[in-house]
Amino acid sequence: MATELPPLPFDYGDLEPFMSSQTLHLHHDKHHSTYVVNYNNLVRGTELDDRSLEDVIKAVAGDASKVGVFNNAAQVWNHTFFWSCLKRGGGGRPTGALLAKIEADFGSFDKFAESLKNAALTQFGSGWAWLVLEDGRLSVTKTANADTPLARGQTPLFTVDVWEHAYYVDYQNRRGDFVTAVLNNLANWEFVAEQLARATGG
Ligand code: FE2
Repeated sequence: MATELPPLPFDYGDLEPFMSSQTLHLHHDKHHSTYVVNYNNLVRGTELDDRSLEDVIKAVAGDASKVGVFNNAAQVWNHTFFWSCLKRGGGGRPTGALLAKIEADFGSFDKFAESLKNAALTQFGSGWAWLVLEDGRLSVTKTANADTPLARGQTPLFTVDVWEHAYYVDYQNRRGDFVTAVLNNLANWEFVAEQLARATGG
């Protein structure tokens, strides 16, 4: 079904100085918006038109003849998810069940943070770094370009967009500084905890 560009779950200036209003206007109003327009143009009038975005992503993943649909659908979903992972006054350490699960599966929060940063830095070119749940266990993964854990049977819990358009205005080539700023100042751990609780029936 046609999808719409959801508004950001915060104001454009809310994430200053860690993510500028200029970056958010470009990233949301231009990049994310373009994926929505492209997706709707590609599925209009096809058998995919009446299916949800998540269904379409899973249905066309790996289908070489539908790579355009996959790329745009996944980028719409990934970006909407990314915005939910951010908030003003976020970052630092989570609490409660999320922190306990991270400590159980990674050894410590610092080891998780290091792993996520490493995934972000070693993603060659455009892509995403993720915290996912798979078979009851947390892990960090990375995906290239539009690819998404949704298409791999994993449950995404948190992500950082590491396409250059996510950080170049504010951090130029310093991807690591951007990821550190997200972890220290913007990560919406309450949202992540909700995703974990939903996935584990908690
Ligand atoms: Fe992006």
